[in-house]
Amino acid sequence: MPIADPRSRREFLASAGATVAASAMPVWGAPAGSKRRYALVGTGIRGVRMWGRDVRQRYADVAEFVGLCDVNPLRVAAGKRYIGATCPTFTSLDEMLAATKPDALIVTTVDAAHAGCIVAALERGIDVITEKPMVVDEAQCRAVLEAEKRSGRPLTVTFNYRYAPKHRLIKETLMSGAIGRVTSVDFSWYLDTQHGADYFRRWHRLRAKSGSLWVHKATHHFDLVNWWLDADPVEVTAAGKLDLYGRSGPFRHTHCRPCPHKAQCPFHWDITKDADLMALYAECESADGYHRDGCVFREDVNIFDTMNALVRYSNGVSMSYSVNAFMPFEGFRVAFNGTRGRLEVRDHERQPWLVTEETEAFLTRNFGEREAVKVPEGAGGHGGGDDRLRDIIFRGVAAPDHMRLPDSRAGALACLTGVAARKSIDERRTVKLAELMQA
Ligand SMILES: NC(=O)c1ccc[n+]([C@@H]2O[C@H](COP(=O)([O-])OP(=O)(O)OC[C@H]3O[C@@H](n4cnc5c(N)ncnc54)[C@H](O)[C@@H]3O)[C@@H](O)[C@H]2O)c1
Repeated sequence: MPIADPRSRREFLASAGATVAASAMPVWGAPAGSKRRYALVGTGIRGVRMWGRDVRQRYADVAEFVGLCDVNPLRVAAGKRYIGATCPTFTSLDEMLAATKPDALIVTTVDAAHAGCIVAALERGIDVITEKPMVVDEAQCRAVLEAEKRSGRPLTVTFNYRYAPKHRLIKETLMSGAIGRVTSVDFSWYLDTQHGADYFRRWHRLRAKSGSLWVHKATHHFDLVNWWLDADPVEVTAAGKLDLYGRSGPFRHTHCRPCPHKAQCPFHWDITKDADLMALYAECESADGYHRDGCVFREDVNIFDTMNALVRYSNGVSMSYSVNAFMPFEGFRVAFNGTRGRLEVRDHERQPWLVTEETEAFLTRNFGEREAVKVPEGAGGHGGGDDRLRDIIFRGVAAPDHMRLPDSRAGALACLTGVAARKSIDERRTVKLAELMQA
């Protein structure tokens, strides 16, 4: 059975700016010879693929779906077909939880709806597995932590990036002490004109739904850094602007299919070429008016596409971080400066040139030589992270201490770093994470 260790708000507050021991983690997997009963809320592409169809196909001996829910009645029906599930469907989460009484709820709704779903399940004594970001603002963060404490049930935040072999290699290289004590980090994430633009087509373009890319996207990166450094973020100073998408665009329309600017728009995207996306989104538009192929130049875009931050950590490390959403290539560059050397990693996810290795890593010791570090390739989604994460959740596959499942505290610290960055830009000041936890 899962073991819960929810922290009180005071403990969390006290630890927000100080080095703290990692908390105990829930243990997942089904008891031998039985299946765990899961319900899922949010039957968009992430829900039906990573947490739906793949789970039904690969974990049927240990997991069964007892209910699916989405506010869009057409999409929950399309999602059920995609998953190949036989369970009942719902448009009300409360009705689903009351009728199906699952062992655990998997939350894959739009980001801003995570908190309400998490709290509803915890209050019924149901364990929760939520997609990142855990929440989109500090009030939701407080509500989730308090609900977890009241319920005594565990919440897991599915930070799949930790489970990609390349990210684990960085963690273990730093743990080995090869570069001594880490003093600072340089971290740049590049989103290209394909993937980066996609955020501006969808609900992610609205702060109220995604918390901005500071929360929706950077939460992955902030969690990696917290975990790599084994430290808490303390304060953030940030800059950000919307330079290319939204009202900066030369023309606009509602969405790509009927757009009169197709011929001259470099961001034109034809959803009709993807049968799965047509079934999940275009054919469900009549229920909620949501366009999956929305125009990247809509006037209502209110997130940033160009972001920089300076983050300070409880162990004295500082990080300069950037994420840009219209790069000509996709990937990242991260470097750790240590008292005894430097670890540099360059990840090539997609680029208009040939690469021999997807990820290159170099370890250079002070007064020593540069050494290439062999980076294992991970097959499957998100650099191999998705499969490893699911094996731990659904099969309870054993993992060393540093690969334990991320909990609500990890979810909170990653989100709050992004919230602090957003607030820092809005208020033109340095924002401490501890202040966000004060009601
Ligand atoms: N870990 C990763 O690498 C990764 C990758 C992709 C997406 N995600 C996360 O998965 C989640 C879903 O992303 P997606 O791309 O599938 O989005 P999506 O828009 O395709 O799906 C979200 C679904 O939630 C539904 N929904 C919205 N509010 C709801 C509510 N209150 N109750 C029930 N349903 C509601 C929508 O109708 C939609 O069907 C997001 O939180 C996203 O951040 C994580």
